[in-house]
Amino acid sequence: MTTPIYYPNDIPHIGHAYTTVLADVLARWYRLNGHDVFFLTGTDEHGLKLQRTAEKAGKTPKEFVDSMVPVFKKYWSLLEINYSRFIRTTDPDHEELVKKVFEELYSRGYIYKGKYSGWYCVSCEKFYSEGEYVEQGGQKLCPIHNKPLELVEEETYFLKLSALQEEVTRLIEEGGIVFPEGYAREILSRIKKEGLRDLSVARPKSRVYWGVELPFDRDYVAYVWIDALLNYLTGVGFMRDNNSFEKYWAEAHHIIGKDILWFHSAIWFSVLRMLGLSPPKRLIVHAYIVNRGLKMGKSVGNVVLIDDLVERYKSPDAVRYLLMRLLNLDKDVEFDQSLLDNIYNSELADTYGNLVRRAGVLAMRKLGGRVERAGPDPGLEQLSNSTVEKVGRLMQEVRVSEALSTVLDLLREANGYMNKTQPWSLEDPREPLYNVLEALRIATNLLYPVMPATAESLARAFGFQLRRVDRLAFGQVEAYSVSEAPILFEKVGKA
Ligand code: MSP
Repeated sequence: MTTPIYYPNDIPHIGHAYTTVLADVLARWYRLNGHDVFFLTGTDEHGLKLQRTAEKAGKTPKEFVDSMVPVFKKYWSLLEINYSRFIRTTDPDHEELVKKVFEELYSRGYIYKGKYSGWYCVSCEKFYSEGEYVEQGGQKLCPIHNKPLELVEEETYFLKLSALQEEVTRLIEEGGIVFPEGYAREILSRIKKEGLRDLSVARPKSRVYWGVELPFDRDYVAYVWIDALLNYLTGVGFMRDNNSFEKYWAEAHHIIGKDILWFHSAIWFSVLRMLGLSPPKRLIVHAYIVNRGLKMGKSVGNVVLIDDLVERYKSPDAVRYLLMRLLNLDKDVEFDQSLLDNIYNSELADTYGNLVRRAGVLAMRKLGGRVERAGPDPGLEQLSNSTVEKVGRLMQEVRVSEALSTVLDLLREANGYMNKTQPWSLEDPREPLYNVLEALRIATNLLYPVMPATAESLARAFGFQLRRVDRLAFGQVEAYSVSEAPILFEKVGKA
């Protein structure tokens, strides 16, 4: 499971968290289903953008990125991102791999020297061709950053992507890799329209010194995007640890935003093919979080910081939940604080939190915390079991937001059951409480990938174990020992 490796030119915002949390949720989900998951994230540290940012900050590029990496790690740890490796493109094993790969591509005849001239966006680290850029007042602007493009004319090395056009087209047409399908069609129509053109994959050191030197020409460094894509191979041990590579590469799941789809499909699939490697198993693409209609980003000035949300909801788990509740692979979603407040209050505080609190208090007050198994309520039993199955199906299709709604339906039903059976008024409330606790246990277990700390602390407070998803059957717990009735989520006021 991989995330894009982020540019550490600035601190990450909730757009980056959107992708990273999704990848973590999927990694945890698969682990919960008994899979061995290697989860890779990291930073993309070379290139002109970083070189200039460091210059402005009065630091060397290496000093600058060294100062940013702990910041990324701090945010990922705050959001409970449980990665297996945090890869940096300045890691020695990665730089070595980039050199080996360039050597290999060169010796296979896929790299040739030529002259290039084009319009470059430093923020995107890519060239834009006519029709792609915006023309305004005689200037050429980047369609994403709205900043002037720079004219670059130089001798460079090209990667012969054109040689792979047919193969890559077929690969994408066969389907199954690029997900959701709509993005595959987008790529195919772009290939059809403009073809798969050879790509400039080198930069003269005189202009861009901050990169991996090319083994066959020391006056050049590798284009930052090829350098970056190769992290996915370094991360699982390509050319270094064959066992690991064989085990993980065949199952690679890349999670990306739609802004970098072309690089991760047309270009990446070609490079892999040139190296004789299989494509990733799945390329999962999501749309943007937008704010006031524009993609959240530093240059637009509409960024919402991770800290803003963690401070507001006082719980990293709640932030993860809200981001996943917004998740939409196909369509951009607008950031709307009052919508998030409503979801938080009604789903987390009023439904989930309230049920936990009520069940916990009653179990302790009425039964001294010990709730033994009692007859299953057929309605709750059936709904719990079908929820497990449905959530499994939805997660397979990365419909995380719907999976969460499905769990919420179960919790609402359990709240209703509680109101109906009124355990507080019963002499012996064992049966209704046991049934509510079973529904809560199953819901909590299903919520674990999204809210791991909450699930673990509730499992401790109520005395149950988190299990594999195929082993959740309703009615299996013999007895609960409730030692605490935590208030999981405090309501928030008006924004
Ligand atoms: N360094 C490259 C990626 C190289 S991967 C081999 C890069 N970095 S980035 O820092 O710009 O991160 C881009 C990614 O961050 C997007 O693809 C997406 O996953 C995430 N997002 C950044 N802003 C976002 C939104 N406003 N909305 C959704 N995702 C966002 O590109």
